[in-house]
This record gives sequence, C-alpha cells and structure tokens, in this order.
Amino acid sequence: MIGVFDSGLGGLSVLAAIARELPSADLVYLADTAHLPYGDKDDSFIRDRVLRIGGHLVEAGCGVIVVACNTATVAAVTAFREAFPRLPVVGVEPGVKPAAAASRSGRIAVLATTSTARSPRLAQLIRQHAGSVRVAVEPCPGWATRVEALHLEDPDFVDEARRHLAPLLADGVDQIVLGCTHYAFLCPTLEPIVAHQATLVDVADAVARQCVRLAGASALGRGQLTLLATAQPERLHAALPALGLSWLTHRLKDSARLVVA
Ligand code: DGL
Repeated sequence: MIGVFDSGLGGLSVLAAIARELPSADLVYLADTAHLPYGDKDDSFIRDRVLRIGGHLVEAGCGVIVVACNTATVAAVTAFREAFPRLPVVGVEPGVKPAAAASRSGRIAVLATTSTARSPRLAQLIRQHAGSVRVAVEPCPGWATRVEALHLEDPDFVDEARRHLAPLLADGVDQIVLGCTHYAFLCPTLEPIVAHQATLVDVADAVARQCVRLAGASALGRGQLTLLATAQPERLHAALPALGLSWLTHRLKDSARLVVA
C-alpha cells in the first residue's frame, strides 16, 4: 500500500500519475484539509503536520509514503525521513533541474506558494541545478485555495494569471515550473496564456516513476483507492470530476472518511 498526502486536493495530480503507473497498487490519499493552505504557514507548523499526517499513513500500513506537496517537502521531508529512517519516502520538489535543462532562452520561472518561494531548499535547488540559467521565483498566494474552491477557469483568475505571467514571458522565460501540486489543475487556464512562448513543467510523472522504482511489494494489491481527509472528507470524492479525475472513481474502495490526526 502506498500513502500519498497533501494539504488538500493538489496531491491528487500526483496520485493520478501514480495510479496510472501502478494499476495494481492500493493507494491511500490523505488530505490535511483541516489545515490548508500550507503555503502561508511557517516551517515548524508544516513539519508538525507532516510528521502527524505521514505518521498516520505509516500506522495505517503504507510501505511507501509520497509527500505530494512541494511546500511540505521543502519544509519537512528531511525531518520526516529522520523520523522514519527505513521507510521509502518520495518528496515532490519544483522541477528546476528539468526546466533548466530544457530551456533554450536561459530563463526559467518557478510558480510556488509563498512558503516554498522563500524556502532555503528552493534556493539550494536553484544553486545546484540551474547552472547559468536565470530563475525567477514567483509566489502565487491564493492559487491553491482557488483550486480547493474548484474555481479553476474563472475570468478573474485568467486576469490574475496574466498579471503574474506576462512579465515573465516578456523577460524571455521559456520554461515555467509548476512548483505546487495544486497548480497542475490550473493548466487549462495557464496553457493558453503561455502558449508558443513557454512550456509548463510538472514533475508528477517523474514522481510516479520514482514510486515504481521504490514500491516493491507495496505495488502489489488490488488497485484500490481510499480517500481520507482531516476535514470535509466528502469534498474529495465530489471534486474528482471537476479535476478531470472521474476515472479514479472505479478504484474507490469506500467513500471518503474523516481522519483525526
Ligand atoms: N499542494 C501544495 C504544494 O505543492 C500546497 C498548497 C497549499 O496548501 O498551500 O505546495
């Protein structure tokens, strides 16, 4: 069994990629909806949540844990690995490396939560992997909450997204990293804005391939999906069609349940 968690709906973009790669794996998704968004919280709060939420999935019997949240990964994956040293843990970090490698203009951008944007771990990733490529880090407060509300293609968001992206495109950015798992669900709005000028970079498929490498016996199950949340668990199941994930419903083992963690 593989456990996947995020503050809310965003990690479902990663879960979907894992479900495609590992059709027989039993998957448990836990959304910490009682505490979202993580992106405006401080590191010690996020660390505490990651230890509790990840710990809950370990107790539930998950043999691999996927931290399907950039904010949680940059703030707390090290502490989580220290707490569970023998457990395979897959984190999700902004795809600076593939974006820098693919850039022809030598300019890329990372869209992220406020917390990820200011994190020393992102600065380190940029130092390690960007080389001579110039990286603009663009905090996008409120975008994850917009996904939670399923306001994915509102006209006012199109305007807001243009305000964020226009200066980056004008500067010659040709790779735009989606540095928050929620933003994958905003692609229908973002893609037409960046079309022909930049590519949106999402690491969900690479994370899924890493799960395939690490899963071992955890990949062998009945292909069942369990949805859990720390608040309003019914919203998870209800959101699947709006997120383009109706196909996951055939894997659902039972309706979403509340977890107190
Ligand atoms: N989905 C998360 C991320 O990848 C966090 C969004 C939030 O809760 O602010 O950063």
